[in-house]
Amino acid sequence: MKKIEAIIRPEKFDAVRTALHDAGYHGLTVTSVSGFGEQRGPVRIWRGRSFSSESVQRTELEIVVPDTEADKVVSIISENARTGQPGDGRIYVSDVDTAVHIRTGTVHTGVEEEKGM
Ligand SMILES: Nc1ncnc2c1ncn2[C@@H]1O[C@H](COP(=O)(O)OP(=O)(O)OP(=O)(O)O)[C@@H](O)[C@H]1O
Ligand SMILES: [Mg+2]
Repeated sequence: MKKIEAIIRPEKFDAVRTALHDAGYHGLTVTSVSGFGEQRGPVRIWRGRSFSSESVQRTELEIVVPDTEADKVVSIISENARTGQPGDGRIYVSDVDTAVHIRTGTVHTGVEEEKGM
């Protein structure tokens, strides 16, 4: 299994969420995050002083899928999160060893075909 972590613009969340849902991916974790990219944050003036290293607010999605579906999910997220402007975010993909469905006790390991693990 792969875990896809995507840091996207908050205003793109609805489009990404809908596209994932329409493609059959229903389970995901959503977190509000703040961070820094290559550019500095917006310059703010406060009491006559300027501050330019402010973090930007983003939405982070975590979604765990079979290995065979990771590329498709990455494409869905990147196509629906892109504006083409700086700040569109990042997607990271990593390996997951084990997933446990708490209610049923089902344990998933390795490459599997079904969604919603
Ligand atoms: N190397 C990184 N590791 C972890 N998180 C990152 C990294 N780079 C960016 N992020 C996260 O992504 C958010 C958005 O970054 P951003 O899209 O501005 O990246 P960028 O590298 O500056 O690309 P761009 O030039 O398109 O703006 C950051 O606020 C941060 O939360
Ligand atoms: Mg940036």
